[in-house]
Amino acid sequence: MARSALINVMVTAATKAGRSLTRDFNEVENLQISIKGPGDFVSQADLKAEKTLREALNKARPGYSFLMEEGGLIDTGSDHRWIIDPLDGTTNFLHSNPFFAVSVALESHGQLVAGVIYDPISEELFTAERGRGAFVNDRRMRVAARTGFDESVIATGIPALNKTEHAVALARQRDIMSRVAGIRATGSAALNLAYVAAGRFDGYYETGLSPWDMAAGLLIVREAGGFVTEPDPDASMYETGSLVAGNEIIHGKLRHLLNKPLPEALQKK
Ligand code: IPD
Ligand code: CA
Ligand code: CA
Repeated sequence: MARSALINVMVTAATKAGRSLTRDFNEVENLQISIKGPGDFVSQADLKAEKTLREALNKARPGYSFLMEEGGLIDTGSDHRWIIDPLDGTTNFLHSNPFFAVSVALESHGQLVAGVIYDPISEELFTAERGRGAFVNDRRMRVAARTGFDESVIATGIPALNKTEHAVALARQRDIMSRVAGIRATGSAALNLAYVAAGRFDGYYETGLSPWDMAAGLLIVREAGGFVTEPDPDASMYETGSLVAGNEIIHGKLRHLLNKPLPEALQKK
């Protein structure tokens, strides 16, 4: 598979950041047993990976804007904007769980045009360009064809205890859980989307996300023939942070369940 110049630029940046994360990940294991723990070290690893991405992308395409998890928005006035999460799955990384990724997306004139998600531990590279399909390494990806909800494995995220959405998320989860083959909370939104695109998860839903968690993954799922939207047809994923993904049927079923009225005690007054 011949990659475009743009995807090559993104892959070079993401793999460079990924190598830096892998080196640090190997260190994190040693820090688990120290009293201070690996917290500060992981923050540094995260910042270092973001710097690597920023420098590599800026060198290849000078002047583009950036929206980064750590560095925030750098608005150059350009029509092009990189949306990056240098380390998606920080909690996993911090606990030496090898499930995290680098996520890089490019938006041009407000439209997603390319996305790369790199898992440096499994060395899997998920890529997509608008209108050109989605790939894992050199293999074309398609979302799973499964339509039976009771046979489906659905990924989600469980909000941290101090988040107000916790009770609502659990109520939704209880409902969905009783209808599907299994629920998985992996701790990486980017990889959940990549896995939907690869047909490894039949669906995915989550709330409380940020644009950098989802940007690359949204394009990758769509280019793999999947659907990904806000559960509410009138709302925008970037604004609310909620999304639901899957093939057309599973997306529709999940979306329907996520729009069901909540028990009265959980409804916003
Ligand atoms: C987090 C992960 C996680 C999701 C959180 C995100 P981070 O990103 O994507 O799966 O549940 O909402 O904040 O902090 O690891 O980059
Ligand atoms: Ca992050
Ligand atoms: Ca993230």
